[in-house]
Amino acid sequence: MSEHKQLIAAALAARATSIAPFSKFQVGASLLAADGTIISGANVESASYGLSCCAERVALFKALTEGHRQFHAIAVASPGGAAPCGACRQLLAEYAAQAVVLLVDSDAPDSINNTTVATLLPLAFTSGDLPGHSAAG
Ligand code: THU
Repeated sequence: MSEHKQLIAAALAARATSIAPFSKFQVGASLLAADGTIISGANVESASYGLSCCAERVALFKALTEGHRQFHAIAVASPGGAAPCGACRQLLAEYAAQAVVLLVDSDAPDSINNTTVATLLPLAFTSGDLPGHSAAG
């Protein structure tokens, strides 16, 4: 199986770990790190709705705190194949700027919407815009 197919399968499987009792909208996200490792996450909701965290950020924070710093791709699986929200686009632009983004409709997983972080968030604000900070973070 190709790396991207494996990544898509991981994102689809990660949906099963979603904790979304309020929206019932289960999202899985999987990152492909430069060393080939796949790190997955799912959305986790709070009774205080605004504290809920998207699958993309759960996966990204897991990957970063496991030591990964370079990412080739992220697959996001949800009903309808939704694109990442603005907050997730910001974090992806900061930590996975070069990544390909594979949007997967969990109800029709064979048709993949293939885009990039740079396409989703052009002219991103990053650490390189802050005085005294390098673009590498
Ligand atoms: N959600 C994600 O996990 N990723 C997205 O790309 C869009 C939205 C989650 C947040 C919330 O738990 C639920 O989907 C409904 O907004």
